[in-house]
Amino acid sequence: MGLWLYILMVALGGLQFQATAAVSSFSIDYENNCFLKDGVQFRYISGSIHYFRIPPAYWKDRLLKMYMSGLNAVQIYVPWNYHEPLPGIYNFSEDRDLEGFLDLVAQLGLLVILRPGPYICAEWDMGGLPSWLLAEPDIILRTSDPGFLQAVNKWLNVLLPKIKPRLYHNGGNIISIQVENEYGSYYACDYDYMRHLLAVFRLYLGKEVVLFTTDGLKESELRCGTLQDLYATVDFGPEINETRAFEQQRLVEPRGPLVNSEYYTGWLDYWGEPHSTKSTAVVTQGLQKMLELGANVNMYMFQGGTNFGYWSGADYKDNYFPIVTSYDYDAPLSEAGDPTEKLYAIRTIIGKFQVVPAGPIPPPTPKFSYGYVSLPQRVAFLDILSLLSPSLPFHSSFPLTFEALKQTHGFMLYRTVLPDDILQPVSLSVLENGVHDLAYVLLNGEYKGTLERDRVNGVNITGQLGDSLDLLVENMGHINFGANNSDFKGLIYNVTLGSTILSDWLIYPLDIDSAVAHEWPPYVPPSNKTTGPTFYTGVFKTPGINQDTYVKFPGWSKGQIWINGFNLGRFWPVRGPQKTLFVPGVLLSTSVLNTVVVLELQNAPSNPKVLFLDRPLLNGTSTFTHKDMK
Ligand SMILES: *[C@@H]1O[C@H](CO)[C@@H](O)[C@H](O)[C@H]1NC(C)=O
Ligand SMILES: *[C@@H]1O[C@H](CO)[C@@H](O)[C@H](O)[C@H]1NC(C)=O
Ligand SMILES: *[C@@H]1O[C@H](CO)[C@@H](O)[C@H](O)[C@H]1NC(C)=O
Ligand SMILES: *[C@@H]1O[C@H](CO)[C@@H](O)[C@H](O)[C@H]1NC(C)=O
Ligand SMILES: *[C@@H]1O[C@H](CO)[C@@H](O)[C@H](O)[C@H]1NC(C)=O
Ligand SMILES: *[C@@H]1O[C@H](CO)[C@@H](O)[C@H](O)[C@H]1NC(C)=O
Ligand SMILES: *[C@@H]1O[C@H](CO)[C@@H](O)[C@H](O)[C@H]1NC(C)=O
Repeated sequence: MGLWLYILMVALGGLQFQATAAVSSFSIDYENNCFLKDGVQFRYISGSIHYFRIPPAYWKDRLLKMYMSGLNAVQIYVPWNYHEPLPGIYNFSEDRDLEGFLDLVAQLGLLVILRPGPYICAEWDMGGLPSWLLAEPDIILRTSDPGFLQAVNKWLNVLLPKIKPRLYHNGGNIISIQVENEYGSYYACDYDYMRHLLAVFRLYLGKEVVLFTTDGLKESELRCGTLQDLYATVDFGPEINETRAFEQQRLVEPRGPLVNSEYYTGWLDYWGEPHSTKSTAVVTQGLQKMLELGANVNMYMFQGGTNFGYWSGADYKDNYFPIVTSYDYDAPLSEAGDPTEKLYAIRTIIGKFQVVPAGPIPPPTPKFSYGYVSLPQRVAFLDILSLLSPSLPFHSSFPLTFEALKQTHGFMLYRTVLPDDILQPVSLSVLENGVHDLAYVLLNGEYKGTLERDRVNGVNITGQLGDSLDLLVENMGHINFGANNSDFKGLIYNVTLGSTILSDWLIYPLDIDSAVAHEWPPYVPPSNKTTGPTFYTGVFKTPGINQDTYVKFPGWSKGQIWINGFNLGRFWPVRGPQKTLFVPGVLLSTSVLNTVVVLELQNAPSNPKVLFLDRPLLNGTSTFTHKDMK
């Protein structure tokens, strides 16, 4: 053995010894009101990012931009319903590759604040809870109801062992873990439930890891959301006086680090409500004040992303408010992952408090206007019902919910016949406003109108005994926040025609996505209808580039769009404010034709085409106001 090789080996051996000897630790210093990382005072400046709202091909790009912005940590939710789509069926691959995402975060040298729920809110369908929990209709979510706890235990038994080796003191980069989410905003205030979660998290993760809660600033929120042995943090946006906000945290946590776990850089949008924005100046002023106070801050969101497919949630504020497809959030990184002026301004503030990596932030990616794409091939929804609903329909005297029939997302069709001749217009409606959430009404295949939860509960029809009546019911997203997450979908109460309760239903669960992805285009005689649920298909070739783009819906009303079988999400240009949907370039092929499938539920333009643009339009106006509908 040569001398140099010998010296090298001794040196490496020494290094190895050092690495194992220097025990990593992350803890709370109650004396000095801060965190301690490896025994040294530590403060995090973090940003939220949701891997489930970004195509995996872009994860690294977004994380790199967050690192370059000067953040030292990222905060991540884990949506239970994304990873356990059916009871006992787990999915951690491709878009759902949580561990692959965490590996990338680690490679970039960012720390992780993990929020595994089981409830997460996040404006995500049912706040991340699986809607199959409601197959047991009496279940009381987010409480110590044994049925709920049993499902939670099974899930955490799968999830938390994946997390344990990634904890900071085990050599990983996860510094802290949030238990539940804004539990104080939920009506139940069940301490036994929180104690149960605490015990389960400790069982799988050990004694050492910092566990915490996050709640709003109200006294009731802090009372019901916090628990001894869980470090209490708060969340608030830039419109709140920071000093007073942290005084609220001090009421429940007299010593320890100040933490704002969700500092709002922007806000979400609802269909039919104006687009939300938050000014850069207001956001940066608040950030600076919190950092001056020595606080730890997580910016929610730093990169919002997209509610692809059927994943967007809804809020309930006197009535039902579904959330739009974009989750741009007016965040520092746009929906397409591009740096905004807000990002540069935030980076400047961060630079006053800690070292920001040298070098430029990657510039915005180029966007492309692919132009108009015609969708000449038209297929009426009902003409391909057997393709969309491969299993046999359920027969039931009265309507059953999605959850009773184990359908989690999308659409279900309810079919019966008129029990009588109806010569004068009679109102078809659902008792107790029980349309969850939209029902497209067809009589003998003719579109008659739409029922809408809390807004339109009556469509007049005339017809004859035995006419076929279909209600295609759309789930617009399970409620994700507020007093009640038991948001059953479909027809929740009986359907009436005048004063008659309709009975004898055939109920078709639908799997539109499988049909679009695998059995398209369907071969059926073309239909000439331009109203009611209809599919429109077309293809386009790219000029050899697959760049991000935005699809606009001139003359269309309400529906769902797929590109090359990928469900981009809901569009609703007549409602707004979102007028274009983000199309990640990675979905497009440069070598073969790209297929566009649009499901229009109401009225299509006479010349059906969509328009691919190089910029988003999230703030469109609409003539719709919720007041008109009450
Ligand atoms: C898991 O999810 C991915 C991405 O959403 C999907 O493509 C895949 O088919 C799913 N795997 C299983 C086994 O369902
Ligand atoms: C914020 O609250 C603190 C403490 O009550 C007060 O001293 C300060 O003036 C307030 N700041 C603003 C901008 O109102
Ligand atoms: C439905 O018909 C009734 C009369 O049968 C009429 O009073 C009512 O205005 C109609 N409603 C709509 C929405 O057309
Ligand atoms: C929640 O909604 C379900 C179904 O509508 C209802 O049975 C239950 O009473 C509601 N619970 C609360 C607390 O409002
Ligand atoms: C529908 O009506 C029938 C007959 O009156 C009744 O037995 C049933 O409980 C009703 N279903 C719902 C969900 O209200
Ligand atoms: C659809 O329209 C075309 C052209 O106007 C016509 O030739 C055809 O018969 C129509 N088909 C149906 C099913 O009505
Ligand atoms: C939408 O945003 C763009 C870009 O910020 C702005 O120019 C436009 O005036 C806004 N439109 C509306 C209707 O607010």
